Amino acid sequence: MNYIGIQPQTIETTAKNLNRLLSNYQVYYQNLRNYHWNVSGEHFFDLHQQFEDLYNDAKINIDEIAERILTLRVKPVSTLAEYLKIADIKEKSTADSREMVLKIISDQKLLIENMREILKSAGAINDEGTVDLISSYLSAIEKKSWMLDAWLGKS
Ligand SMILES: [Fe+2]
Repeated sequence: MNYIGIQPQTIETTAKNLNRLLSNYQVYYQNLRNYHWNVSGEHFFDLHQQFEDLYNDAKINIDEIAERILTLRVKPVSTLAEYLKIADIKEKSTADSREMVLKIISDQKLLIENMREILKSAGAINDEGTVDLISSYLSAIEKKSWMLDAWLGKS
């Protein structure tokens, strides 16, 4: 049955993009937890807290994205093995705090690209519910990216 007035065949691309975003977010989340635990040195207190704030935001988005996919009557990807296979974002361990911040900025860039694709495919089929959800993430993560970039102290 067509529950929310969008044809199932037109939902396919958006649902696939949303599942990719979900997978990317899961790997991004784990990178943040890794850095939250393993950061050390003179920036410990600010970065330990910053990574926690970021993974808490990511955790909320992860659940909302999965439930949006379910709202479109598609199954969300739900295993770590599949996330790692589908995600563009890769796991990375490092002991260097600047490298951690650089990696998070580059992960965020992939999330932003993924979000823009979703806005395009969802907009094309008038799926305003998805557009509304993803738009709210986009400006927030762009701002986080700027803040991390400012922390690095480069222009
Ligand atoms: Fe903690």
